[in-house]
Amino acid sequence: MTQASPALTQDELKTLVGQAALQYVLPGSIVGVGTGSTVNKFIDALATIKDQVKGAVSSSEASTARLKALGIPVLDSNEVVELAVYIDGADEIDHQGHMVKGGGAALTREKIVAAQSLQFICIADESKLVKTLGQFPLPVEVIPMAAKRVVRQFAALGGVATIRLKDGQPLVTDNGQIILDVTGLQISDPLAFESQVNQWPGVVTVGVFAYQKAQVCLLGTAEGVKTLV
Ligand code: 5RP
Repeated sequence: MTQASPALTQDELKTLVGQAALQYVLPGSIVGVGTGSTVNKFIDALATIKDQVKGAVSSSEASTARLKALGIPVLDSNEVVELAVYIDGADEIDHQGHMVKGGGAALTREKIVAAQSLQFICIADESKLVKTLGQFPLPVEVIPMAAKRVVRQFAALGGVATIRLKDGQPLVTDNGQIILDVTGLQISDPLAFESQVNQWPGVVTVGVFAYQKAQVCLLGTAEGVKTLV
């Protein structure tokens, strides 16, 4: 475990785990890159060793822009069969590595890149570690035509789903769809829950990552970076 001062801010903890993730980047490899403020720290760190990697497969337009601005080549996911590692943040992670993701609305592409990677390395500050998933509003990407039906299906499970807004309008994802955020859920069986919601017509991706769970979590804490596996 690396040492850290108890006075570190959440932003500094994100920087620490972003830098710590470099140890999982293999020389000469293509890296799977997630989305979010923690991943931005990783991208900044990756730029310091950019000559040692072939490039990245990105999970969002935002990460693609940042990678390119720092001179890191971005490859199309269809050009790559398999990635050694995918590095991404989480909105919640439990002790088994199951996660809730999608706070940055990039969950569908995140799940695609995670699925083509041998290892998911989650980087997060300690506020993200939970016993049971469900405190953070669960993001679900849906096709607009199905939105109200999916809202009713969540209501039947005890959840309250609302359409995510940006500037007063429904947020449109990189894939041209919308996001529902669902509160009031206790996700005690993440695999079963992910399977169930994925069956609902019009659901593009549910933000539970149980099938694509993290194999390693680098957690930024007041005592330093803890590695949970
Ligand atoms: C984006 C995500 C992010 O990984 C998640 O929202 C965490 O973001 P941050 O590092 O900014 O806290 O799933 O869709």
